[in-house]
Order: sequence, then C-alpha cells, then structure tokens
Amino acid sequence: MPVERTLSLIKPDGVERNLIGQVLSFFEKGGLKIVAMKMLHLTKAQAEEFYIVHKERPFYQELTEYMASGPIVAIVLEGENAIAKCREIMGATDPAEAAEGTIRKTFALSKGENTVHGSDSPESAAREIAFFFSELEICPRS
Ligand code: PPS
Repeated sequence: MPVERTLSLIKPDGVERNLIGQVLSFFEKGGLKIVAMKMLHLTKAQAEEFYIVHKERPFYQELTEYMASGPIVAIVLEGENAIAKCREIMGATDPAEAAEGTIRKTFALSKGENTVHGSDSPESAAREIAFFFSELEICPRS
C-alpha cells in the first residue's frame, strides 16, 4: 500500500472542549504518524478559501463562519493509505451515521460541529497540506 499524507483539522468544537489529546490518540492508535502540527485561528476569508470547493453548497456561510469562530489544530498525518485510514478513523460527516468507535461517533455534535476534518482525495490532501504547511515544516517519518 502506498505511504500517503493527509490533512486533518481539529475543529473549534474539538479545541473548545479540550479534545485535542484524545483526537490525536485516535489517529496514533489507528496507525497514523503525526508529521506536522500547528494551532491557529482562521479568518473568515481564510476559511472561505480553504472550503472553496463547497462555495455553492447551502451551508457554505455557516461552515466558514464556524471554522473562523475559534482556534483549530492543523495536522499532517502520514502512513500507508493515510487518506482513507484517516476518514475511517473519523467516521461519517453526520455523527448520527458514524460507526461506533470513530472520532465523530464519540465526540461530534452535529454535521457542522463534527470535531474533525480530513482530506477526501490525494488532490485535496496536496492542496490542503500546502494551505497550512511548507515542506520545511513537515518531518517525514516513514
Ligand atoms: S454532506 O452534505 O453530508 O454531503 O456534507 P459533506 O460534503 O460531507 O460536508 C462537507 C463539509 O461541510 C460540513 N457541513 C456543514 N457545516 C455546517 N453546517 C452544515 N449544515 C453542514 N453540513 C455539512 C461538513 O462538516 C464537512 O466539513 P469537513 O470539514 O469537510 O469535514
């Protein structure tokens, strides 16, 4: 299986509820390695740029206002099949549909306040990692 990198975000509800350590634990126990990490507070314009693919979706304003409402943690995860593995560990977008034992089943409050984000494809992962990190800030561990 290919070694990949993916971007995850701990969203404002996860930071606010002091869940950073527990979320990181899910990823580490799932076999992914943290190769870069930072905490930051996005502006509304930055959140709009990050979620530009959802510009036409009805929840775009709500989503981008929410993502700019408080600090988040950006993480680059590395491992075999990391993109799919990260999404499996997170669970479905809607916590009501998320499988038992996933981050969202355990912690998410709603489809918006769902604690974590994860890239959905190799192309998204490349764009999203570059949005937050320079190559110098990433420490390969494979
Ligand atoms: S959908 O509608 O279930 O197909 O949603 P999805 O494409 O998976 O969601 C894309 C991201 O939008 C967020 N989302 C919302 N935010 C605020 N309000 C509402 N109603 C809402 N619905 C979906 C969802 O958490 C996804 O965020 P990311 O960060 O990409 O996981």
